[in-house]
Amino acid sequence: MIRSVVRGFGAALPERVVTNRDMEKIVETSDEWIVQRTGIRQRYIAGEGETTASLGEQAARAALDNAGLTAADIDLIICATSTPDNTFPATAVNIQNRLGMHHGFAFDMQAVCSGFVYAVTTADSYIRGGLAKRVLIIGAETFSRILDWTDRTTCVLFGDGAGALILEAAEGEGTSQDRGVLTASLRSDGAHKDKLYVDGGPSSTGTVGQLRMEGREVFKYAVGMITDVIQAAFDTTGTTADDLDWLVPHQANRRIIEGSAKKLGIAPEKVVITVDLHGNTSAASIPLAIAAAAGDGRIKKGDLVMLEAMGGGFTWGAVLLRW
Ligand SMILES: CC(C)(COP(=O)(O)OP(=O)(O)OC[C@H]1O[C@@H](n2cnc3c(N)ncnc32)[C@H](O)[C@@H]1OP(=O)(O)O)[C@@H](O)C(=O)NCCC(=O)NCCS
Repeated sequence: MIRSVVRGFGAALPERVVTNRDMEKIVETSDEWIVQRTGIRQRYIAGEGETTASLGEQAARAALDNAGLTAADIDLIICATSTPDNTFPATAVNIQNRLGMHHGFAFDMQAVCSGFVYAVTTADSYIRGGLAKRVLIIGAETFSRILDWTDRTTCVLFGDGAGALILEAAEGEGTSQDRGVLTASLRSDGAHKDKLYVDGGPSSTGTVGQLRMEGREVFKYAVGMITDVIQAAFDTTGTTADDLDWLVPHQANRRIIEGSAKKLGIAPEKVVITVDLHGNTSAASIPLAIAAAAGDGRIKKGDLVMLEAMGGGFTWGAVLLRW
């Protein structure tokens, strides 16, 4: 059977680092409060000229270099983002043009913080369905541009950045020993749409709007939803927490990540954490974490890797793959 195997990865961050101490000058907060509640110590914030598409392009170029490929080798670009440069056209098309790619096709995926997990699942479906052979998947965000910088309950949590992954078609045996995407488990439930949302949009207010969140409500559901989809991925493939080499979670909050791993019996040393450095970069957080852990040699060929995320909608999901 056809499997979607990882061929390359890349990342890009804005130039400017904003520490918790810097945040203390913007809202009434403290480094201690932020670290204790979230694990975040700093985040990167896009400056003038840095946009979702420019960061996405940088991450894409890094992934192409890592794979030893050029844009000519790609036939589909999927960009997961909730902070597009424009309402339309899609940021993926913008990046396609920046890469000088004028063949194939490109589109955006909007599932907020679960966007990257949704995008990997979509790319895998296109590859297995024979519609694409090599897919460039990008998670790119500039959440700083939709934050209310007077609201301390949200503005301390998020950051900007981009990451990319290239998947390509390869033959597999159809067992959990195959390399590539082994299974995915996606969920959403719009009953929770008002717990984490942006209070504007083209069709409702004609404005961009700002991020609003009931943090405690999100927290309440997070661990249960995340562990459900991870368990489903284990069950489908007949694998267990012991077989897993790496959990690469969406980086929203260290307590949610550690609570989920503990509930599933995943050892803490198998969990990739970058939330301390990047904050919550929404759809970019998983590919940024992948680039960190694969870049420094932790994630190796043949490793069993679980990606998971939960976010606005709510949307949530997990992807199990063998590197
Ligand atoms: C946001 C979050 C860190 C808040 O932590 P919490 O322990 O739930 O804190 P609470 O909201 O109960 O607030 C506790 C107190 O801290 C205060 N507080 C909120 N933000 C603060 C900040 N940045 N600095 C200092 N104090 C703050 C609150 O006003 C509250 O004060 P009060 O008790 O006097 O009213 C936590 O709810 C969370 O992580 N939720 C999930 C959010 C998330 O990950 N969303 C993204 C999903 S993709």
